Amino acid sequence: MKQRLDEVRDRHRDDALGRGFNPRDVDLLLSDILGRKLSWIVAHGDELIDSAPLDVLLARRYGGEPLQYIRGRTEFYSREFLVDSRALIPRPETEILVETALQFAPRNGLVIDIGTGSGCIAITIERERPDLRVIGVDVSMAALALAATNRASLASHALLAASDILTSIRAHADLIVSNPPYIPAREVESLEVEVREHEPRIALTPGSRGTEAIEQILEQARGARVIVEMGFGQEQAVRDVAAAQRYVVDEIIPDLAGIPRVVILSPHA
Ligand SMILES: C[S@@+](CC[C@H](N)C(=O)[O-])C[C@H]1O[C@@H](n2cnc3c(N)ncnc32)[C@H](O)[C@@H]1O
Repeated sequence: MKQRLDEVRDRHRDDALGRGFNPRDVDLLLSDILGRKLSWIVAHGDELIDSAPLDVLLARRYGGEPLQYIRGRTEFYSREFLVDSRALIPRPETEILVETALQFAPRNGLVIDIGTGSGCIAITIERERPDLRVIGVDVSMAALALAATNRASLASHALLAASDILTSIRAHADLIVSNPPYIPAREVESLEVEVREHEPRIALTPGSRGTEAIEQILEQARGARVIVEMGFGQEQAVRDVAAAQRYVVDEIIPDLAGIPRVVILSPHA
């Protein structure tokens, strides 16, 4: 049975709010289902629509599935990336890592992105700086398949390769960038349901300490400058790991919430 768009919209927005969800999710899903812009949804309340497809998508949302996986896409650095449960959803704070990498990458250099996931970092760097050669590596073949789809849809020339950190890569990077898994294993169960039950575990935690992937990256970096993202409260642990690998922390950049987030490391002189 068809119903007025404004009635469906109001009812579902109220319901979303009552359940603790953002009512904007309703508008975005309506916009996807109807193939219309948000402004059209707001201005055409008297259109008659079938609410069944919206009910189905909202049931997934209320079951804890991230909105980005339901929509199948998200925006990162002003580009649209396809996303699904094969890879982590790109986060806004990772744009700071990209910004920093663009600043430090030497002209015509080789940049390697470790743990490329959806490919958001590697593809963005390559698209923003066509002078660079960029390789995105991941140990997850499923993530690499998604990255390959994004590479094609965004017409990127970034290369993608399967590798456990850098063990399968012979080329010597001028700059290594990574948003590695960094959550200590015991903390995964306390994450929001969206993250803990829907995003790949391999993208979240590298082990009990949380710094294992950063340790391996520095161990295998062969003297390249390294820019990595880290978790809340990991500053000292990362400094200790760096010292053990004869690296020094040049700078730590906070995210928009003021949390130390992006670490720039150089080999000890
Ligand atoms: C936090 S996600 C980051 C994904 C993407 N770069 C982003 O910023 O949205 C970490 C990624 O590292 C990959 N990964 C985990 N362990 C790895 C390893 N030992 N070697 C290479 N990649 C690894 C995971 O599969 C996942 O895609």
